[in-house]
Amino acid sequence: MNDKIASLLNQQINKELYSAYLYLHIANYYDEMDLDGYANYYMIQAQEERDHALLFLKYMQNNGLKVTFEAIDQPDGKYDSPLAPLEHAAEHERYVTSLINDIYHACHEGKDYRTMKFLDWFVDEQMEEEDNADSMVNRYKLFGIDPKGLYSLDQEYAARVYSAPSLVL
Ligand code: FEO
Repeated sequence: MNDKIASLLNQQINKELYSAYLYLHIANYYDEMDLDGYANYYMIQAQEERDHALLFLKYMQNNGLKVTFEAIDQPDGKYDSPLAPLEHAAEHERYVTSLINDIYHACHEGKDYRTMKFLDWFVDEQMEEEDNADSMVNRYKLFGIDPKGLYSLDQEYAARVYSAPSLVL
């Protein structure tokens, strides 16, 4: 594996851990508002991001690559409405998709077919992540303005449960 790909994989561990940190930040925002369902949704989202980081870590370990743990950025975002974190999360997921695409591109150029195969799971996952994030924005715009609608959405998100990733290394 070439150094550029190894460096991008290492960086992705940090980016996924940042994603987990960002979603904890968002979960905490909703918890302070007593929107416990939304808080639950983002607590689980944070667990999924931690899982993504661990998958990159494990892949690097399995390939005998040296891992460096960098500092994780402070989550940014001061939110002025319950819609704002949802839009922030949707924008963030599109950014993560661009990162995965960048690694994929480097693998394509470096003929690293093994890592491309590993990344295929993340390519699919990002489609789901963007779809879910956009859906949360759209559903809030449709129903969340009305207090009863917001209550109902919050109840629905309270029912989300964690499940481990389908990719096992
Ligand atoms: Fe690890 Fe939400 O992408």
